[in-house]
Amino acid sequence: MTKQRKCSVLGVAVVAAAVLLFFGSCGAAQAPPPAEEMQTFVRKFISWDDARLDGYSYDNGYGDEQQQGEARPSYGEAYYKGSRVIVVDQNGGGDSVTVQGAVDLVHEFNTQRVKIHILPGTYREKVVVPVTKPYVSLIGNESDVSKTVITWHNKASDLDSRGIELGTFKSASVTVLSDFFCATGITFENSVVAVPGGYGMQAVALRVAGDKAFFYRVKIKGSQDTLLDETGSHYYYQSHILGSIDFIFGRGRTLFQDCVVESTAENYGAIAAHHRDSAEEDTGFSFVGCLIRGTGKILLGRAWGNCSRVIYSYCHIDDVITPPGWSDWDKPDRQRTAVFGEYRCKGRGADTRRRVAWAKTHFTLQEVKPFLDLRFIDGHQWLRL
Ligand SMILES: *[C@@H]1O[C@H](CO)[C@@H](O)[C@H](O)[C@H]1NC(C)=O
Ligand SMILES: *[C@@H]1O[C@H](CO)[C@@H](O)[C@H](O)[C@H]1NC(C)=O
Repeated sequence: MTKQRKCSVLGVAVVAAAVLLFFGSCGAAQAPPPAEEMQTFVRKFISWDDARLDGYSYDNGYGDEQQQGEARPSYGEAYYKGSRVIVVDQNGGGDSVTVQGAVDLVHEFNTQRVKIHILPGTYREKVVVPVTKPYVSLIGNESDVSKTVITWHNKASDLDSRGIELGTFKSASVTVLSDFFCATGITFENSVVAVPGGYGMQAVALRVAGDKAFFYRVKIKGSQDTLLDETGSHYYYQSHILGSIDFIFGRGRTLFQDCVVESTAENYGAIAAHHRDSAEEDTGFSFVGCLIRGTGKILLGRAWGNCSRVIYSYCHIDDVITPPGWSDWDKPDRQRTAVFGEYRCKGRGADTRRRVAWAKTHFTLQEVKPFLDLRFIDGHQWLRL
């Protein structure tokens, strides 16, 4: 049997297993239904179950579909509570020794959640989750995010194999292009440290360009341009983001809730550079209940595009903010159109008396309400947490 043939047989087995699960059939395995029919079972939401492997133990038994003592199926064909689980183990005991190797085992155009369980270790590699592979979860240990690290060290000025500069976007250590992505208990790192004023030092740790993504207890660590929240609706909950210059940037519509946002800047920098060109774009970065700390001094945000939108509500802000707070990116016209504001923040860095005059330091509850919870990202449509 050629390798390819073997793969396609395994593929059919997976579909059949999924069908059995959904119909609860106890008869003989039947032919998989046509693709159209499968569509009716596609879950267009993310739940806690997708972000976790509660009760799953890699050490004893491999999920509830396995009989005791039975050998674990190869090629990551194990199932646990109805989801396929692929194990990444640096030491060779899993389905793959690399994270990318596990992503490669996910079938294209999959319609079911696939959980990639990454065992503790530092994985030195670049990872891309392609647009053709939705419903992927990367799961480490939610109690200890430092145990499972994916790290690389490209910066924008590095050259590719053809001698062309990578640019910021392609510097990312981990790139997510697909929809309905989840990650829990993982550190995403770009280990390049920006030299202030240095050329091409942008070095992305995590780039999220898929729609509808959920991050729970992850750490995103870099220096300049750490998190490229490129496009789509995203939810970061109880996560930790570190950097110095524009370290959360992009065109996302994104809620950061109960997160730690940590400045590693020495003299200057900025937390958020949200990119929004017109008032019609339903995007923005909303920080709710976050802790802003670190070294400093940095700005809360810079206006990338005329209508950049960044709001901090109910945050605790340490003394790490440059008093003016916000920058128009040397484009005074943007002072009229940027939506930058703070609502009921506390801490020494939350003193708004010396903020730029054009920032919204006196939001009413009515004005700020659309940004305060999951409704901002239409979470009721795609999150069931
Ligand atoms: C996760 O990390 C915690 C804290 O270090 C540890 O007690 C626990 O055993 C870890 N869980 C697994 C499954 O490794
Ligand atoms: C931004 O605003 C300036 C000044 O009002 C205008 O000339 C420019 O076309 C705007 N840019 C976009 C992308 O709309």
